[in-house]
Amino acid sequence: MNYRHIYHAGNFADVIKHLVFRMILSHVQQKDKGAFVLDAFAGVGRYDLSADQALRTGEYFQGIARVMSEAVTNVDLQDFKDFVAEDFAKGFYAGSPVLAAKMLRLQDRLIANELHPEDFGLLRRNLRGFQNAAVTHIDAYDAIRGSLPPQERRGVVLIDPPFEKKDEFQSLVREMAEWKKRWATGCYILWYPIKVGLPVDDLYEAAAALQMNRAWVCEYLLRDRELLDGLNGCGLLIFNAPFQIPERVDALSAELTGLMGGTIRSFYLGSSTNA
Ligand SMILES: C[S@@+](CC[C@H](N)C(=O)[O-])C[C@H]1O[C@@H](n2cnc3c(N)ncnc32)[C@H](O)[C@@H]1O
Repeated sequence: MNYRHIYHAGNFADVIKHLVFRMILSHVQQKDKGAFVLDAFAGVGRYDLSADQALRTGEYFQGIARVMSEAVTNVDLQDFKDFVAEDFAKGFYAGSPVLAAKMLRLQDRLIANELHPEDFGLLRRNLRGFQNAAVTHIDAYDAIRGSLPPQERRGVVLIDPPFEKKDEFQSLVREMAEWKKRWATGCYILWYPIKVGLPVDDLYEAAAALQMNRAWVCEYLLRDRELLDGLNGCGLLIFNAPFQIPERVDALSAELTGLMGGTIRSFYLGSSTNA
C-alpha cells in the first residue's frame, strides 16, 4: 500500500468528487429521516496543503486553489466554496470523511473505513469529536458488504479506491453486482481515473448491464483522452443519482472548467435516464 492521498489532496479530481458528494449528501438530507454514509476508502480526512508531499506535486494549485481564487455565480459552486473556505484559509483541505462528518445531523451516521495502518490512525484522530462518526480498519469491499443494507435504508456509499492494483476495475465490476443484491436503491458514488489503457469502457458496459436505476456518469477530462503519459481525467459513476443532481452538476460545469481547465461531459448509462 504505497498510495498516500496527501500528494493529490485538493486537485481537480478531489474538487469534482467532493463537490458532487456534498451535493448528493445535502440532497439526501432534505428529508428528516436519518441518512447513512459509508466512505469505504476514506484516506486521512484532513490534509495540510503546506506539507512537503502536497507541495512536491503542487496539484492543489490547479484545483481547489483555482476554485477559491475567483468569485463564482453558480449557487452549488458557491456553497462548496463556503464549505471549504475556513479550512482553506488555514492551509488545510478536508477529505471526504471529514466533509461528511461535518455535515452529519443527529439522526445521521457515518462509517469511514481505511486500510493503511498509519492513515487509519490519522483518520481516527481527525474524526475524533464528531458525533455519529465511526472508523473501521478493514478491506473496503468487506466494509461495503458488511454494512449493506443499512438500517436507515437511505444514504450514500462513496467508493474511492487508489487504483494501485492492476485489477481494481475488475474488482469493482465484480463487487457492483453484490451491491445491487444487497441494496439496490442505495446511492453509490464511484470515482475512477481516466488514462489510456484503463478499462473504463468495460466498467460502463458492466454498469449498464447491471441495470441499476439512474446510472449517471460525469467525466472530468483535464487533458486529451488519448494522451499516453499519465492521468488525463477522472470519472464519477453514480447509481441511483438523485433527481436534479445531474442537471445541477451540468449547470456548474462551464464555470468549474473555466476555473480549473479541461472539460466535463456527462451521460446516463443504458436506458436508466428516467427510471
Ligand atoms: C483515493 S484515497 C481516498 C481519498 C478520500 N476518499 C477523499 O476523497 O478524501 C484511497 C484510500 O484508500 C486506502 N485503501 C487502499 N486500499 C484499501 C482497501 N483495500 N480497503 C480500504 N482502504 C484502502 C488508501 O490507503 C487511501 O488512503
